[in-house]
Amino acid sequence: MRVEDFDMFSTLLKQRSGLVLTRDKAYLLESRLMPVARKWNMKGLEELASTVRTRKDEALLRDITEAMTTNESSFFRDQKPFDQFRQIVLPRLLEARSAKRSIRIWSAACSSGQEAYSLAMLLNEDAAKLAGWRIEIVGTDISAEMVERSKSGIYTQFEVQRGLPIQMLVKHFKQQGDKWQISQQLRQMASFREFNLLGDLSALGQFDIVFCRNVLIYFDQPTKTKVLEAISRQMPQDGVLYLGGAETVLGITDRFKPVDGQRGLYSLGGFQVPSGLRAAV
Ligand SMILES: C[S@@+](CC[C@H](N)C(=O)[O-])C[C@H]1O[C@@H](n2cnc3c(N)ncnc32)[C@H](O)[C@@H]1O
Repeated sequence: MRVEDFDMFSTLLKQRSGLVLTRDKAYLLESRLMPVARKWNMKGLEELASTVRTRKDEALLRDITEAMTTNESSFFRDQKPFDQFRQIVLPRLLEARSAKRSIRIWSAACSSGQEAYSLAMLLNEDAAKLAGWRIEIVGTDISAEMVERSKSGIYTQFEVQRGLPIQMLVKHFKQQGDKWQISQQLRQMASFREFNLLGDLSALGQFDIVFCRNVLIYFDQPTKTKVLEAISRQMPQDGVLYLGGAETVLGITDRFKPVDGQRGLYSLGGFQVPSGLRAAV
């Protein structure tokens, strides 16, 4: 790939999605953009690059942006955040919201929906405690294809074998040919929509719990700061933020503080782990 084409694509991707690509990732750009060039009946990446320069076709720019997203996810990814959710975060928020009886959860950069449905499965386990509560799970992703996959709730054999306990598979999924679909009941607990984290987050409203995992790793530091500070404005003081295992707020923003003794969990300062639950996870 010509250096000027690489630079043009990487600038475009940074502007549209926040993705930072260094020149050693040129191979990635080539392998992921070739199918886009083919889909648009172009001979190769040079033609794709010159078309982007001359014609600002929104559908083409979207295809290029989506092709460069990494959509890796799995059910109950890393497990511990979900244990914390069930044993510490949910009980604490149920107490704090007992008057309002409503909790909103955001799976930001939800990919194919496994994170949102893992939460739905946990909430289903606590259905008795949650009777009369309004619990909303909202999944968003920049990729229209991922949003459609999330809505369908259909997963391959490989995907249901990664992190999903067999009892949960049996309880909540139905086999459909060689794939598995999550039950309608759980699909109704979550809604999914296309949304760019670089956009105006106020359109989504306020969230008590935000999972923003394994997406900031693709951004540069100013973009991480901008996104985290925008997320902080969508949360109450006692809301909690989950980041991925390789992500942190340290050195990026001082709005969020690590929740005492709970790795990967952050709050604006108002979330206290009840003393009886401290040793739970
Ligand atoms: C590696 S996946 C992480 C999925 C899930 N959060 C998890 O931890 O398993 C990263 C997701 O971020 C999405 N993404 C990348 N840039 C984004 C942006 N600017 N706005 C919203 N989503 C974005 C990608 O489409 C992709 O599905």
